[in-house]
Amino acid sequence: MRITIRDIQKMKAARELIPMLTAYDATSAYLGETAGAPMLLVGDSLGMVIQGHDSTLPVKLEHIVYHTQIVSRVTQRALIVADMPFMTYNASLEQAMTSVGRLMQEGGANAVKLEGGEHIAPTIKAIVQAGVPVMAHIGLTPQGVHQFGGFRVQGREVASAQQLIRDAEAVQAAGAFAVVLELVAAPLAKIITERLEIPTIGIGSGPDCAGQVQVFHDLLGLYPTFGPRHTRLYADAGTTIKAALAQYVEDVKAQRFPTMEQAFTMKEEVLAAVQANGADSDADR
Ligand code: KIV
Repeated sequence: MRITIRDIQKMKAARELIPMLTAYDATSAYLGETAGAPMLLVGDSLGMVIQGHDSTLPVKLEHIVYHTQIVSRVTQRALIVADMPFMTYNASLEQAMTSVGRLMQEGGANAVKLEGGEHIAPTIKAIVQAGVPVMAHIGLTPQGVHQFGGFRVQGREVASAQQLIRDAEAVQAAGAFAVVLELVAAPLAKIITERLEIPTIGIGSGPDCAGQVQVFHDLLGLYPTFGPRHTRLYADAGTTIKAALAQYVEDVKAQRFPTMEQAFTMKEEVLAAVQANGADSDADR
């Protein structure tokens, strides 16, 4: 049985912290689920860590549909949240509903995530009324990186802090089942978490959120040029993998790999017939 949004909300009520991870393919989905994460996010961060762009903006709906298909296919238990990419929900309600339909029907998502606060609340309300669980995302919303002028901590002034509280309350009132707080000053994230019924899922927003989300590649050191301050390197897998692959390259060049241990033999008489007759062996007729 898959975990549901009710299970996630019960975790907050029981003060059980909610760990969430991104997943993009069969490997990350399998590893994330077997590690025990109750929710996996097919994030548009794949634009950076999978596609090699410098932002999430080039990610298209069909990319998230494709990766969500993979993640939902190989998991049994985790709640799968699919990100709505840039400009797939902002033009009109009709556009948002069409995008949601594809993520749920073709992708097999269990919920969608979209960025924005008060201004996007009517869209959240319509999606929820259509029966689709929505995770909201406020604070530093990466799809607005050009408007923010970079990846800056949010809510450090009175006006912006108050706006974030209004955003959080608006998405909750619109029916979101949870809200991501990205790069929100930690004391403000605590205030928001205490004011809301729904769980806050923090990233770079301190220890007092109801849950945390991190990018798979950041936790494992797999992304070569970027390691945000808000993450922790749980395994320097990138360095380990690089060394292992360099060893493989050297072994192939030096004829140390493969050996007969990784090879397959054949019957002596078959070999003898092939050696004697080549392609014209009588044995084959
Ligand atoms: O795309 C993503 O991975 C995200 C998380 C970082 C919250 O939106």
